[in-house]
Amino acid sequence: MLTLNKTAGVFKPSKRKVYEFLRSFNFHPGTLFLHKIVLGIETSCDDTAAAVVDETGNVLGEAIHSQTEVHLKTGGIIPPVAQQLHRENIQRIVQEALSASSISPSDLSAIATTIKPGLALSLGVGLSFSLQLVGQLKKPFIPIHHMEAHALTIRLTNKVEFPFLVLLISGGHCLLALVQGVSDFLLLGKSLDIAPGDMLDKVARRLSLIKHPECSTMSGGKAIEHLAKQGNRFHFDITPPLQRAKNCDFSFTGLQHLINKIIIQKEKEEGIEQGQILSSAADIAATVQHTTACHIVKRTHRAILFCKQRDLLPQNNAVLVASGGVASNFYIRRALEILTNATQCTLMCPPPRLCTDNGIMIAWNGIERLHAGVGILHDIEDIRYEPKCPLGVDISKEVEEAAIKVPRLKMNL
Ligand code: KG4
Ligand code: ZN
Repeated sequence: MLTLNKTAGVFKPSKRKVYEFLRSFNFHPGTLFLHKIVLGIETSCDDTAAAVVDETGNVLGEAIHSQTEVHLKTGGIIPPVAQQLHRENIQRIVQEALSASSISPSDLSAIATTIKPGLALSLGVGLSFSLQLVGQLKKPFIPIHHMEAHALTIRLTNKVEFPFLVLLISGGHCLLALVQGVSDFLLLGKSLDIAPGDMLDKVARRLSLIKHPECSTMSGGKAIEHLAKQGNRFHFDITPPLQRAKNCDFSFTGLQHLINKIIIQKEKEEGIEQGQILSSAADIAATVQHTTACHIVKRTHRAILFCKQRDLLPQNNAVLVASGGVASNFYIRRALEILTNATQCTLMCPPPRLCTDNGIMIAWNGIERLHAGVGILHDIEDIRYEPKCPLGVDISKEVEEAAIKVPRLKMNL
């Protein structure tokens, strides 16, 4: 087994271990493979994931180790814990993905790895491991932007041409962007505070859903979706955030505080302590989910109208792609469908397992970049990870100046 040594805070598998690792795959340099095959490695947050994907979008091998259960127990992601878990799992996960693909590492066209944005300690593990592998295999390296990878995943599962609008909603990110090419993005709006997944995770934690027998192993967002099915969203009346701001930005902190107040009130009424499950937990889950959906739809509606007004998207059959962990929520998807039906657009979402973090999207982004001939590195000397990195060119001020009024949509969900 390849073990990773710690050198000055950075992970460095020893050369001998890397050779052993490669030998376990019958590594023989020079085998000729006719089409492009990319190994993708993802460690930007709390999933250690790897996949081998070919240029037609075939997933040849895949493996993932989720840290969700550990972080649920500690009440959130503690970066050094995430780092340690990535260290413990990365070699096994890459090995599993390669073994499942039945290809020799020498047949890879390139190695693609998330280097931005994300948790510094987590990104560092994936990058160090990848650079060692790249050095040994003498393959090109393709640094990947995590959000770009989420945005382009749809082109692996569906035939979607540029340009299209993308809504990325996850635990760490919340943005609306126009995708004009493989590395050509216009940022229309983003969250001014926290991401919706983060907010849902915090609400789930405050509701102690980890103690709920049906939700104990679910991420916060998934637990909220599950419980909301049993709840009544009309029980509480909440106005979605940023009603007056005529831009495409988002905000979730205010909503989180409002929900907190409701929880405190309900705990008083029901005579229970924080940490016990409220009898109205399902109603609260339904309310927060519905308000989140309405907020996301309104911002996205404005983005569609802006893009059409500026001829950035076709008037008919424009595509809206929703991805990221929160986009695996079927209630939010149905709300977005109401919007796309009303605006003559088509909603497309990757299957839920490709909405959350995975290695396939990273490998696919590598394939897209190989095709386009952009961002393929043969010299890996100066590669650094970047915990913070915006997506594309920010035109959110222009969007705000357009001050587009969004017509009311009936959210009969
Ligand atoms: O994309 P992702 O796996 O990781 C990043 O944040 O990049 O997204 C994880 C987030 C978590 O906050 C989780 O609570 C949320 O996505 N999530 C959901 C659902 N499944 C995962 N939120 C709402 N509904 C779901 N079904
Ligand atoms: Zn993600």
